[in-house]
Amino acid sequence: LPQSLLLNKKILITAGPTQEAIDPVRYISNHSSGKMGLSIANEAARRGAQVTLVLGPTALNAAHPAIKPVNVTSAEEMYLAAADHHKQADVAIFSAAVADYRPEKPAAEKIKKDQANYTIPLVKNPDIAQSLGAIKRPNQYHIGFALETDEGYGSAKKKLKSKNLDFIVLNSLLDPEAGFQKDTNKATLIFKSKEEIKTPVITKEALAKIILDHLESLMGTTETT
Ligand code: C5P
Repeated sequence: LPQSLLLNKKILITAGPTQEAIDPVRYISNHSSGKMGLSIANEAARRGAQVTLVLGPTALNAAHPAIKPVNVTSAEEMYLAAADHHKQADVAIFSAAVADYRPEKPAAEKIKKDQANYTIPLVKNPDIAQSLGAIKRPNQYHIGFALETDEGYGSAKKKLKSKNLDFIVLNSLLDPEAGFQKDTNKATLIFKSKEEIKTPVITKEALAKIILDHLESLMGTTETT
């Protein structure tokens, strides 16, 4: 068997949800389990990569000894950890479901229910994939995800461009087999430099293999010999 092009490569993976504090006992978050990112981390480690997994709060754990987990809670923490590891990374895979907004000023004490209505001012979180995409070096590869509740092709193409990705993996929640907490997925891989491909319904482990096969094929075609 030929050696994997990922052997000894440094791969940064963001995975899982983020939690944005409202007060000391409450937060805003989403349904991400981190399964897709963990599957990619495990498969990349199996291929000999050195993986840094920047992981939001989830019950799941990294399984392979070649994975260095960095546990974070909020989007800002995830951004700082990812930016730090991105400097050395050959590949960055953004699979985290980052909260788009956070409470502007988390309350220091538990908020009491003595008002009929309560409004929480929100401010925008940093877009990790976009910020790091803006400083991406020519020899770095970036992969992102797009989860849409509609068909989503047009917005995925926009994200591919605005986040400066080499390819984006589009999942649609219209597919009953795809999405949060599920073990299976069905995806369209949309590339910067070639025709897109659609996968059938497959496990997240199988999708991880397909994603890394396509990454290796991009690395192989751009590598000078
Ligand atoms: O814009 P949207 O959230 O749909 O983009 C999804 C892609 O961007 C995913 O790869 C996700 O990990 C990444 N992202 C990010 N930081 C954010 C929001 C999204 O890295 N604040």
